[in-house]
Amino acid sequence: MCGKKDVPNDMSRAEEAEMKVIIDTDPGQDDAAAIMLALGSPEIELLGVTAVAGNVPLSLTERNARYVCELSGRTDVRVFAGADGPLKGDTVTAEHAHGKTGLDGPEIFEPSLTLQCTSAIDFIVETLMEEPVESVTICAIGPLTNIALALKKQPEIGRRIKRIVLMGGGYFAQGNVTPSAEFNIYADPEAATIVFACEAPIVMMPLDVTHKILTTKERMDRLAAIGNNASEALVKMLTFYGRHTSAKYGGDGGPLHDPTTVAWLLCPDLFNGRMCNVEIETQSPLTRGATVVDWWGVTKRRKNALVVQNADAEGFFKLLTERVANLI
Ligand code: RIB
Ligand code: CA
Repeated sequence: MCGKKDVPNDMSRAEEAEMKVIIDTDPGQDDAAAIMLALGSPEIELLGVTAVAGNVPLSLTERNARYVCELSGRTDVRVFAGADGPLKGDTVTAEHAHGKTGLDGPEIFEPSLTLQCTSAIDFIVETLMEEPVESVTICAIGPLTNIALALKKQPEIGRRIKRIVLMGGGYFAQGNVTPSAEFNIYADPEAATIVFACEAPIVMMPLDVTHKILTTKERMDRLAAIGNNASEALVKMLTFYGRHTSAKYGGDGGPLHDPTTVAWLLCPDLFNGRMCNVEIETQSPLTRGATVVDWWGVTKRRKNALVVQNADAEGFFKLLTERVANLI
């Protein structure tokens, strides 16, 4: 699965694909990298992209999702709009990191790819109820509001989802929005509580691992050397996003969070972690949105998530570069 794969030209994508995926996202430059990695990987049949409010408001995240798909030459991808705010509390955004557009860096064109009329929540529920049991994987790379609303609308989908691979939380790495909370969880802790309590198997990509995946200049130069539209725009996006994160964390380049979820689907051996219980703090004003990971197994609580801690960063960037080269 991990080796170089060319995009099929004579077979339908569905025939070539080994997995059906829904990406739930709040683009976001790193979300764009995740979407491109999926679109450049023939193993994945992308059933749909569902946008959620997060890094920037929903009106921009859904537009950005359509832009990234069109930029990648995939105007066949269906994009849906979901929740425009959290289940509870104020909407939190991250323009300071992602810029006003959410995808600052390249010149963004207005996509011709139109938004689907169905809501993201209805699309998630309908797809999971229609597709065979345990055949659809959800990559959740923004606040978990859409997934939680879909689970509330139709709890049966919790038993039908093959796996939820989510970027969110932090344990040893703590938080990036508050000292103890990572953005995706902090933006909607009630939604995260619902998702981590559902029956679907969960793979959690916390800051602990994404802080080890750095967009160094050498890696950006390799992406730039691809020379297609997608890579050119992606390098501009990640250079913009990296200026904020490398200043914050120091060092050459910044963490690349969201594509680790898609990379885990394609090459799980690039990563390692441990099954743990994960609970979400929602009550304390000081630590609201913290992911409390029972790493040492001191409770008897259900081990509800594979908490990833380490990655082969070079192997990850080799995969990302190879697959973005499959785009236009
Ligand atoms: O904390 C990182 C996460 O928050 C990423 O998903 C990034 O896109 C932002 O949504
Ligand atoms: Ca995101």
